[in-house]
Amino acid sequence: DYRVRFNARRGITFVAAPDYLTATEIGWQLRTRTMGRVIHAYQSVKSTNDVAAQLAASGAAEGTIVTAEQQTRGRGRLGRWWHSPPGCGIYVSIVLRPRFRPERAPGLSVMTALALAEVIERYCPGETRIKWPNDVLLGGRKAAGILTELSADRGVIHHVIIGVGINVNHRQSDFPSELRSAATSLRIACRQAVHRVTLLQQFLRRFEHEYERYRRAGLAPRRERLKRFSSLLGREVTVRAGREALTGRAVDIDRDGRLVLAQDGGRTAVAAGEVTLRQP
Ligand code: BTN
Repeated sequence: DYRVRFNARRGITFVAAPDYLTATEIGWQLRTRTMGRVIHAYQSVKSTNDVAAQLAASGAAEGTIVTAEQQTRGRGRLGRWWHSPPGCGIYVSIVLRPRFRPERAPGLSVMTALALAEVIERYCPGETRIKWPNDVLLGGRKAAGILTELSADRGVIHHVIIGVGINVNHRQSDFPSELRSAATSLRIACRQAVHRVTLLQQFLRRFEHEYERYRRAGLAPRRERLKRFSSLLGREVTVRAGREALTGRAVDIDRDGRLVLAQDGGRTAVAAGEVTLRQP
């Protein structure tokens, strides 16, 4: 499956490496210290987050990843599902064991969105946006999502699972009709097929770097960058979390990744929620 080109002067060059998410492909030339040092690569699972949580509960090391070519019950935020057809996307879950307090865990989602946006931006320059807290949009449509799940007890984190779904090589027809107006892929938005293995390696490297910085300093050093990617800042929004709804102007993202809303009475920082724009 490796295509090679033979040239008398330059010898053998690889012109195409197979684009299967296997442990060998992902691990080969992966330039990270911890992320992806242990790889569990599956053909098909219900949800990589569930497999990763089981591994974490039985002691898997920080940086262990679970990938699948296909998910039969990919999960999204707020009880939604994540469309996970075979071969088109990246479905990966990462086991983390941070030693900070559980309150800082929601910021990991924002940090992950930033790592993703930085990598996707290289393929789609000028088009990449983050819709707080953690959707990555291309041309206003969703190209990637993050599902962060925390296991903690009395103020101590046992583990965090960061689940990332990226729509990479989907064509329009790979999305069910109800998703077509809201979803996109790198291939659709950037008009090029993207090598998934390479994209995953680039993401893991960027993620490792951002995670190290987040543990040291939170998101403070990344605020300007985050604001530049943000699709919400300066706009009137409503944030819903459970039964509560807050309305105001999105003015900032603080060091814990919370969205800061300006209202008549002052400012409020929200840690998580679902955002809708009040003025299109
Ligand atoms: C969202 O935007 O609602 C979050 C989507 C997260 C999807 C990923 S795919 C890999 C991991 N396994 C899951 O079941 N979900 C996450």
